Amino acid sequence: MTSYRHHPDRIAALVQDDRVHRDLYLSEEIFALEQERLFANTWVYLGHASQVPEPGDFVAQDIAGRPLLMVRQPDGAVHVMYNRCAHKGTQLVTDECGNTGRFFRCPYHAWTYKLDGAPLGVPLKNGYEGTQLKACESGRGLSVVKHVKVYRDFVFVRLADTGPSFEDYFGEVLGAIDNMVDRSPEGRLTVGGGVLRNIVHCNWKMYLENINDTVHPMSTHESATKAAEALWEGHAPTDPKPMAMEQILPFGSGYEFFDRMGGRVFANGHSVLGVNFSIHSNYAQLPEYETAMRAAHGEERAAEILQRSPQNSVFYPSLSVKGSPQAIRVIRPLAADRTLVEAWSFRAAGAPDLLFERAMSYNRLVFSPMSVVAHDDVHLFESIQQGLRAGGNEWVSLHRNYDPAELAQPTLTTNGTNELLMRNQFRAWARSMVAGMEAAA
Ligand code: FES
Ligand SMILES: [Fe+2]
Repeated sequence: MTSYRHHPDRIAALVQDDRVHRDLYLSEEIFALEQERLFANTWVYLGHASQVPEPGDFVAQDIAGRPLLMVRQPDGAVHVMYNRCAHKGTQLVTDECGNTGRFFRCPYHAWTYKLDGAPLGVPLKNGYEGTQLKACESGRGLSVVKHVKVYRDFVFVRLADTGPSFEDYFGEVLGAIDNMVDRSPEGRLTVGGGVLRNIVHCNWKMYLENINDTVHPMSTHESATKAAEALWEGHAPTDPKPMAMEQILPFGSGYEFFDRMGGRVFANGHSVLGVNFSIHSNYAQLPEYETAMRAAHGEERAAEILQRSPQNSVFYPSLSVKGSPQAIRVIRPLAADRTLVEAWSFRAAGAPDLLFERAMSYNRLVFSPMSVVAHDDVHLFESIQQGLRAGGNEWVSLHRNYDPAELAQPTLTTNGTNELLMRNQFRAWARSMVAGMEAAA
């Protein structure tokens, strides 16, 4: 069996210009290295600030196997700490979210901490007199995550000490978050309606690739769209559609539609699919909302925001954003062959309830375990995970529209069915995995 640790050359060789090796999806060692390196070296989405509205509110979330705590401070700031007691390592909270009051108290020996992690008190204090506790790590309270960025209420962390700044890492793709937030006439989003969680028995990269795959809907989702089309038969194209119809029918669009909708890649693996239009472009207009948007943003900017509705914007490696309907998916890898996918819906402050209903309806119809779309994909991801174990061909093809000239262009706009969007992810994968890795002597 190949060993990859300390062999950056072997890791880099898994990603060729137009294809990738199956070990990327199957190897437990590669998965462990991804947890240690890729998810530490990049900026990873942790959660939304609206999940912790009040001081003392917390969300506990593992990133790359490290338990973290996102906490609202008394001054309104959002801090992120490691969920590890400074004494012996007990997790301070085991609930996924809640309110801790004015301080954290460890359930084991009752050491306490302020909301920012500073030490507050230790029982039986006199036993520590004359010891080195105060001077050592344990006496300093909780370890904080140093590199935290709250961008328009989206909270990201970079666990590694060194690496690109948040702005340099994401660059132009941040416009996709701006677009979603600016759809609120008040410039503010809040998470609503809970979260839909789905554990898929496949590698996380397979899921992320599919977010950029427009060649599959025609075949993969044929049964769902044909059923919807049959239900809608006899209606004129201009008839107002129920929301579910409005959202499902465009999945049946032809190859040519997906090709023309266009895609754009950015440095570091990010992408926007549907730069010209998307399956979301023809949702019914809402005149009152548009008036509110014009009043908030001005004529030109309001039109720009509303006309732009990409299908998926990928913030590599773990966040996928839909500006309209306001929904995100978060990819949380659990093992080489197990991935947790979360689908969240957002309410846009100052916008009609219908927008929020669209986000929830979309998530239920398309991403939930009981959806009429996701199970088509999930079935195939699990099939790929098995199929790749077969002997013979060890490579996965990403040849569609490959052009050697793309290698020199970190940012590029292309047709919507070009597998460049996936090749771009894997090139970023290889770079983050081997960054700073010393080869074995
Ligand atoms: S482990 Fe937390 S107080 Fe002892
Ligand atoms: Fe799909």
